[in-house]
Amino acid sequence: MKAVKVWEFPVRVIHWTNFLAIVGLCVTGAYIHWPYLATSLALDAWTMNTARFVHLICGWTLMLGVVGRFAWALIGNEYASLKSFFPFLTVKGRSDLVGVAKYYSFMSKRLPPNLGHNALAAIAYLVMFILMAFQVVTGFAMWAQYDPSGTAFKLFGWVFDIASNSYVRLAHYFTMFVFFAFFINHIYAMWIADIAEKDGTAGSMFSGYKYGEE
Ligand code: HEM
Repeated sequence: MKAVKVWEFPVRVIHWTNFLAIVGLCVTGAYIHWPYLATSLALDAWTMNTARFVHLICGWTLMLGVVGRFAWALIGNEYASLKSFFPFLTVKGRSDLVGVAKYYSFMSKRLPPNLGHNALAAIAYLVMFILMAFQVVTGFAMWAQYDPSGTAFKLFGWVFDIASNSYVRLAHYFTMFVFFAFFINHIYAMWIADIAEKDGTAGSMFSGYKYGEE
C-alpha cells in the first residue's frame, strides 16, 4: 500500500469549517428552541441575543462552506468531484454500493477497495449537503423577516410562499436531529474503516493522505 494524496487543502479546510459551523449552529439552535436559562422573572436576553448572533455567524460560515465545496466539486481532483457523490449512476458504483451494504451488515469481511468516499458514504454526504443547503435557505429566510423590504427577503422570502413561518421553523428544527444522527454514524464509519481497513481514514482529513492503490 502506498500513501496517496486524496483530500486537497480546500476540501480539508471546508470540512473543518463546516464541522465547527454545524456544532455552533446545533448548540445555539438548541438554545434558541429551548432557552432553559430564561424564566418569567429573568428573561436572560443577553444569552439569547448571543446565541442568535453566534447562530448567524455560523450560518454565514456554513453558507460559504456549502457554496465553496460546490465550486471545488467542479474544479477539484477526482475524489472531490461532483460525480463522486453520484455512485448510483455507474455500474461500478452500484456494485460498490452492494459491497458496502454487505460489509455493514456483516455479510462480507472487506469494503470494496476505494480511496475516495465509499459508495454509501458518498450518498450520505450528498443528502447532508442537500440538508445543509435546506438549513441555509430556511435559516436566511427566517432571518430576512426582520426587514421584509430588504435584499435578504427578496432573495429568500419565496420560502414563505411554500410554507408559513411556523412550518419553516419546525422543519429547520427537526432537520437538526438528522445532523445528530449523521454525526454518530460518521464517527463509527470513519473509525471502523481506519481500524479494520488500515487505510488511514481517521488522519486523512488532517493530512490529506490515505493508504492503498491509486
Ligand atoms: C446545521 C445547520 C443548522 C441547524 C442545525 C440549525 C438549528 C436551528 C434550531 C434548532 C433553531 C431553533 C428553531 C426553533 O425555535 O424551534 C434555529 C433557528 C434559527 N436559525 Fe438555524 N440552524 C442551522 C442553520 C442555520 C443557518 C445557515 C441560518 C442562516 C442564517 C440559520 C438561521 C436561523 C434563524 C434566523 C433562526 C430563528 C432564530 C430566532 O427566531 O430567534 N440557521 N436553527
